Amino acid sequence: MKRRELLPGIEWVGAVDWDRRLFDALIPLPDGTSYNAYLVRGRERTALIDTVDPTKADALWAHLADVPRIDDLVIQHVEQDHSGLAPAVLARYPEARVLATPKARMMIADHLGIPAERVTPVADGETVSLGGRTLQFLHAPWVHWPETMMTYVPEDRLLFTCDLFGSHLASSELHVATAEHVAESAKRYYAEIMMPFAKTIHGHLEKVRRLDVATIAPSHGPVHDDPASILAAYDHWVNDAPSNLVLIPYTTMHGSTAKMVEHLVAALAERGVTSAPFNMTVSDLGAYVIRLVDAATVVFATPTVLVGPHPSVVVAAALTSALRPKARFAAVIGSYGWAGKAAETIQALASGLSAEWLPSVFARGLPTEDTLRALDGLADAIAERHKGLG
Ligand code: FEO
Repeated sequence: MKRRELLPGIEWVGAVDWDRRLFDALIPLPDGTSYNAYLVRGRERTALIDTVDPTKADALWAHLADVPRIDDLVIQHVEQDHSGLAPAVLARYPEARVLATPKARMMIADHLGIPAERVTPVADGETVSLGGRTLQFLHAPWVHWPETMMTYVPEDRLLFTCDLFGSHLASSELHVATAEHVAESAKRYYAEIMMPFAKTIHGHLEKVRRLDVATIAPSHGPVHDDPASILAAYDHWVNDAPSNLVLIPYTTMHGSTAKMVEHLVAALAERGVTSAPFNMTVSDLGAYVIRLVDAATVVFATPTVLVGPHPSVVVAAALTSALRPKARFAAVIGSYGWAGKAAETIQALASGLSAEWLPSVFARGLPTEDTLRALDGLADAIAERHKGLG
């Protein structure tokens, strides 16, 4: 992909990673991703906003082949998919000043090996003139790390947001064609990367709304020419009440837990509650995580392996806990052979959930009539608590 004009004097110099299928060795990327870097030219100075993932160095060097000088290297976020080539950029442009938040200075030293004294810290709201064009830095901690910032160009009503408002979507299009085009990948990105920071994002949304913004340029996925659309989507994901939806991450070994899940799904449906079971040995972890954005309840369903939960449900519990979704209720169901502490273990692993834990339902061996009645009781309890949820 060649260098592309975003606005007069502002160019995309990023890389599209069509083949990447996993992020952080955990997060599935069915649609690949991109690493967006931007070249911003003023009359007197030229700034590079972020770099690209080191695996895509050739793309950045091709974009910069005829760029003789970079005066300011803006590191909005120290994670290596954006900053990984900063040392190489500085080797190529030794005159460049490095601009980052005060908190980023030591992180840049720790993660990139660039001495802290090489970094010029910028305060929240501080401006740098490029000559006829201004960069204003807006600290935005926890989207995605504590050192993150955004960069606003008031003359162009343009906001660079780094990870915030990003999408893991490889595309030949620079801009979002329609809100629907990017909705699924933006939601997947929110779920996998941003959801743990929902409370902080609430404040950032207010900050962005106070700016006059016509274009939002994130560091992953297409550029948003309709900021209201992505802001409204974030507002819904962050602030709205959860939906009348129960997620059931489960695994079955000899069929007992699967029978219990099947019964619970039917019992919930009879009570007007939507549910979605995810067999964790075959399901797309990303598909589960996307629906976590909306679910009001999570029911972990596991057989017992020796005395603990099945490892695939352990992963679901740990990930659910880490992502801190807005689910209000949770439960554990499952089966065991002779004894076990699967429920207690799952509850401990999912302690990041701010949820009311409903009574567990476990069967020794095959589910009995008593087991099914207990599952009906669980469905009653969930339906009662979901009253009023849309
Ligand atoms: Fe795209 Fe947090 O890095």
